[in-house]
Amino acid sequence: MTNQNLLNLSNSSSIVTGAARGFGFAIARRLAEAGSRVVVTDIKLENAQQAAKKISDEFSVAVESCELDVGNETQVTEIFAKYSKIDYLINNAGVFSNFVLENLSSDEFDRILRVNIKGAFLCSKEFARINQRSANGKVIINIASVDALNPSCVGQVHYTSSKHAVAGLTKGLSVELAPKGMRVCAVCPGAALTEGAIELVQAGAPDGIDIKEQWAGIAKRTPMGRLISPDDVALAVLFLVSPMAASITGILLPVDGGISSQPLEGYTN
Ligand SMILES: NC(=O)c1ccc[n+]([C@@H]2O[C@H](COP(=O)([O-])OP(=O)(O)OC[C@H]3O[C@@H](n4cnc5c(N)ncnc54)[C@H](O)[C@@H]3O)[C@@H](O)[C@H]2O)c1
Repeated sequence: MTNQNLLNLSNSSSIVTGAARGFGFAIARRLAEAGSRVVVTDIKLENAQQAAKKISDEFSVAVESCELDVGNETQVTEIFAKYSKIDYLINNAGVFSNFVLENLSSDEFDRILRVNIKGAFLCSKEFARINQRSANGKVIINIASVDALNPSCVGQVHYTSSKHAVAGLTKGLSVELAPKGMRVCAVCPGAALTEGAIELVQAGAPDGIDIKEQWAGIAKRTPMGRLISPDDVALAVLFLVSPMAASITGILLPVDGGISSQPLEGYTN
């Protein structure tokens, strides 16, 4: 295969969850640019439709859209029955918030885990089921977080728990699905000012964490000295679904400007 062909995904189709904006949109955009037939899904249909139109206009390709709440098992089953020829599933939909432990309600804990881990589980299970006879070359990419490796900051017990679970899901699925030829990897992004993150920073933490200061601190602590961009994540996904990653499965790939590999505080001058 020539270098040029390695990123030609024109004989494939992809489904991206939570793709109306943020990382999901950037991922759907790069997959479409590489020639994959993309289905943009989101909990908000109108937003998914607008995102699909934007990508379709930019690259003059057909991009489908549909409503999908990843935590709704019935809806997940319906969508994968409709799109049964998908090659790449990108479990990107995710929600986050900041609450220190004493203010973290069990409802909020459930809300975060329902989307971030149960959603990824439901979509992966259905994707694996519809592909059980022809899984070869199919790929699942989970958008985890650096919080899948270590907590990134205080106020994230629920989020960090959900993303550690995504790491476990990734490794568990990779072992079970490898014999069938299906690969499963996770990308672990560092902090990026996506629409969702901007909303969080602007809202401020309900219980007094200064999120603006926290996020400025994250950029300062990052060896590359900056936050990452949605396109950084999209390019990593493109690599992982492509034939360049044909022997890679079960990995957690940090895309974080080096923050997960910096020296521990106390060991630096
Ligand atoms: N932004 C960051 O700094 C950052 C860092 C690491 C990991 N992540 C992860 O990346 C993913 C995307 O985050 P983002 O920053 O782009 O967020 P975002 O809020 O900008 O976009 C998330 C999208 O997911 C959709 N969504 C929410 N609940 C859903 C559900 N139940 N079903 C389907 N779609 C749903 C939203 O409508 C939205 O369009 C998440 O899994 C998040 O945890 C984000």
